[in-house]
Amino acid sequence: MLRTILKSPAPVRCIQSSLYRGAVFRPAAMRAFSASAIASHGHIHKPKPGEELHITFITKDGEQIKVEAAQGDNLMDIAQAHGLDVEGACGGSCACSTCHMIIDPEYYDEMEEPSDDENDMLDLAFGLTETSRLGCQVKMTPELDGVRVALPAMTRNLQAKDFNR
Ligand code: FES
Repeated sequence: MLRTILKSPAPVRCIQSSLYRGAVFRPAAMRAFSASAIASHGHIHKPKPGEELHITFITKDGEQIKVEAAQGDNLMDIAQAHGLDVEGACGGSCACSTCHMIIDPEYYDEMEEPSDDENDMLDLAFGLTETSRLGCQVKMTPELDGVRVALPAMTRNLQAKDFNR
């Protein structure tokens, strides 16, 4: 059925599958997912002119990536929107440690204290440091303009099956 839909220039009504019987599939809707700029992806906002906040991400290879961000967006969403390798397994709900980032000590004290939940998750992070934070829990503020953020070489993504050994 999928092959028929992909080859057909016209809408195709499904008559084979009981699940989709009667549904009309339009091949035009099956084009690439997005043609918009990377910065338009995810949950980040475009900074207003003159209000851009600057972040330098340092990848595990030592490459420095400078990006602009809007106030209120979190470090994980910003990094992901710029194609950086940050897993974020729980989608930013403070239930994993795969968005672990290491903050420049000069800026660490400018951030709000981590919550108890974040501290609990940070305890599971691989390579924890004195200035470690979960990227999904750190929102950009004007005080963080210019912050440097290192992305750890590894993360620890615990799953239920890991506890059965
Ligand atoms: S994405 Fe899971 S805690 Fe940040």
